[in-house]
Amino acid sequence: MRARKIMVVAAATAAFALTAAGCGGGRAGVEGAGDTPAAGANKGALIGVAMPTKTSERWIDDGNNVKAKLESLGYKVDLQYANDSVPQQQQQIESMLNNGAKALIVASIDGTALTQQLADASGDNVKVIAYDRLINGSPNVDYYVTFDNEKVGVQQGTSLLTGLGVLDADGKDTGKTGPFNVELFAGSPDDNNAQFFFKGAMSVLQPYIDKGTLKVVSGQTEFSQVAIQQWKLETAQARMENLLNKSYAKGTKLDGVLSPYDGLSRGILNATKAAGIPNPIVTGQDAEKPSDKLILDGVQYSTVFKDTRKLGDTAATMVDDVLNGKTPETNDTTTYNNKVKVVPAYLHQPVVVTKDNLIKEVVDSGYYTKEGVEKGE
Ligand code: BGC
Repeated sequence: MRARKIMVVAAATAAFALTAAGCGGGRAGVEGAGDTPAAGANKGALIGVAMPTKTSERWIDDGNNVKAKLESLGYKVDLQYANDSVPQQQQQIESMLNNGAKALIVASIDGTALTQQLADASGDNVKVIAYDRLINGSPNVDYYVTFDNEKVGVQQGTSLLTGLGVLDADGKDTGKTGPFNVELFAGSPDDNNAQFFFKGAMSVLQPYIDKGTLKVVSGQTEFSQVAIQQWKLETAQARMENLLNKSYAKGTKLDGVLSPYDGLSRGILNATKAAGIPNPIVTGQDAEKPSDKLILDGVQYSTVFKDTRKLGDTAATMVDDVLNGKTPETNDTTTYNNKVKVVPAYLHQPVVVTKDNLIKEVVDSGYYTKEGVEKGE
């Protein structure tokens, strides 16, 4: 940290001297800051990859995929997991910068907590790619690679309706009016994606709540009431137990639960199992192996599969482009406003998975082995 700060101060002084002497504007003289690097100039450079946690297998896969792709492009990689701790992630990024990383790929824990680190990165002309989760409140995010997050939510909402029989396999209304008793869950409030998932899901579910086909028995329909801090399975389980005790104690049947992530889905299903009630229709996300097994066993209804190999490839390619003076390919330049700027993004497409297509999507694509999804580990 200290060494880097001294370098920055020295460089800034040099820049000031050059500018004062009329040697051009911008940050000329600061180790090429702001310059477009020549092709090959960063060959073999160090790239920092900051991932949030190892408690969910998707992030382990993400880290491994990004690392492998970067290494295949000839880069050195510093891959770190922050145990869902914001200070730990801040420190890891600082240490990546101290070690001379030329670009960062960051899946943030709290998307608003990295402003200082990214300002430091920008001061060192280090490029920043937000990975899967947008980093908010900072001008120093160069690109964003993710899945279409609102679509994930739409798929979750639609899948809940399909599981309940309100929609058919083609997404057509079957005319069933229920009422079906449901509960809603959302992700971590500090993760920008959580709002997108919930908004997407509610765009599909709200009309059915309004006309009484769906009844949220607890009455909890606001994001702030249903969000689960840090996406924790245990917190979702505790909330579900609470809801069952309060709103379903008199034998009211729970038909379905909107869940935005497989870890939460398993917490919810642990609670319904412990209560000895039939499995409700439960959605999910990430096609994690323990949930894949539950889907094959008919316990969890669905998940949303996001092929993180694609995300890793795109992130690594973006790094390679920016470090070689090329403009990375993007396909969305309007949706992801991080409160300071619209961050140019590349969105991949998520896929809904149920028992019917799990093997085809998750196994035949080579993402997980058949043994893995059948064993759930
Ligand atoms: C990711 C999801 C994941 C969740 C919990 C979100 O930011 O987009 O894929 O389920 O975090 O880890």
